[in-house]
Amino acid sequence: MERTLSIIKPDGVEKNVIGEVIKRFETNGIKIAAMKMIHLSKSQAQGFYAVHKERPFFDSLTDFMTSGPIVVMVLEGDDVIAKNRKLMGATNFKEAEEGTIRKEYATDIEKNVVHGSDAPETAAFEIGYFFNALELHAR
Ligand code: PPS
Repeated sequence: MERTLSIIKPDGVEKNVIGEVIKRFETNGIKIAAMKMIHLSKSQAQGFYAVHKERPFFDSLTDFMTSGPIVVMVLEGDDVIAKNRKLMGATNFKEAEEGTIRKEYATDIEKNVVHGSDAPETAAFEIGYFFNALELHAR
């Protein structure tokens, strides 16, 4: 059993596809172990994306992630990190496979609707960034 952090980004919330995204998780056997809607401050977004701080899009990405509320979730299931990334599709929606969340709803490289942890170590950091032990529910 594995856990991963999923975020529905401000563009996904704005496009009103929270339910569509969650439905894909549930119909693919993924359980939701924690969930909340929050609006990040700039410094909170910078802390979350600290690993990307040298990249040219860092400022733009952290501005975008503070532009509106987001939905943060902990997903649980077998091989859920890889499963979630497959459901999301490629970072660049133009390269995303048909039927993936980003292929369906993303509109540019930045506004790509969802985030998902890319490895167990990143998942542990990202889950701990948003949730404490009392907010996590074994499913
Ligand atoms: S990944 O998923 O970490 O392998 O993708 P990566 O290409 O390393 O990108 C890391 C995050 O940065 C976002 N990104 C961008 N934002 C704005 N402009 C440009 N050009 C850009 N390229 C990548 C990308 O959506 C990733 O965000 P998260 O939230 O991690 O999915």
